[in-house]
Amino acid sequence: MSINDLPGGCRSASTGVPPTKVTMPALSEMKRQGKLISSLTAYDYATARLVDEAGIDMILVGDSLAMVVLGYENTLAVTMDEMLHHTRAVSRAVRRALVVADMPFGSYHGTVEEGVSNAVRFVKEACAEAVKVEGPRVELIRALTEAEIPVVAHLGLTPQSVHRMGGFRVQGRSVDAALQLKAAAHAVTTAGAGALVLEGVPREVAAAITAELTIPTIGIGAGPDCDGQILVFHDLVGLSFTPAAKFVRRYADAGALIHSAVEHYREDVEHRTFPSDEESYHLPEAARKALDGVGTEEKS
Ligand code: KIV
Repeated sequence: MSINDLPGGCRSASTGVPPTKVTMPALSEMKRQGKLISSLTAYDYATARLVDEAGIDMILVGDSLAMVVLGYENTLAVTMDEMLHHTRAVSRAVRRALVVADMPFGSYHGTVEEGVSNAVRFVKEACAEAVKVEGPRVELIRALTEAEIPVVAHLGLTPQSVHRMGGFRVQGRSVDAALQLKAAAHAVTTAGAGALVLEGVPREVAAAITAELTIPTIGIGAGPDCDGQILVFHDLVGLSFTPAAKFVRRYADAGALIHSAVEHYREDVEHRTFPSDEESYHLPEAARKALDGVGTEEKS
């Protein structure tokens, strides 16, 4: 079976034969070999193609799309249907990276059975190759693993816990909190998680967890000692409209680039310098002459 024959119709027929595909076991192998894992979020076909073609190993269709794409103040409002819609678009674009779908708030906070059936939807309807869940949800992670769905766990600053945490705050800062975080990291690993996102935790805590675990840690605001790093695409390219967190490095100012392109377009339209004659379709010579003639005949 080729990648284009996958059920669910999420893969584009135009993408052809995939290069070496990144899988969840491949991420663990990278850790064993000391190769660092690059990861970014993507939420649509165009950005997912760019991210995949740049060689990023893991693409997360993050629920951060609630904020950076849909304009909400936190991640809580985004729905299963919205996440499925965006995951499908990303899956159609990606040939090499591992595609991970973020399970939205409320989709796995009831029974384990509900969590599993929502995760199955990501695999069946949107071609996700793994799902991410926030918090040490050991029972759910075990059930998902038994259901053949690879899991990326997410600990530390888990944005879906914003109300419990009283804001987006760095976690694991006291000895007790750091020990709890370590215990949770071991628990999700034992339950079957294939990788662990560590968000908003002190570098020292992330380094200790990374050294102890067999599965790879992917850090965001967790320092450079993790087995890989992840950032939100819009933060990386300067397309987010909120002040950047300390851990964000902006590699481009796509916001300024797009702003200037759109302003130039508006000016060209206002001055009738867009479109030019070369950017216009023309009648064939014979048709033009015939039409010119019709006007003349009618007058005479
Ligand atoms: O939703 C998201 O983008 C995330 C990453 C920041 C890890 O969970």
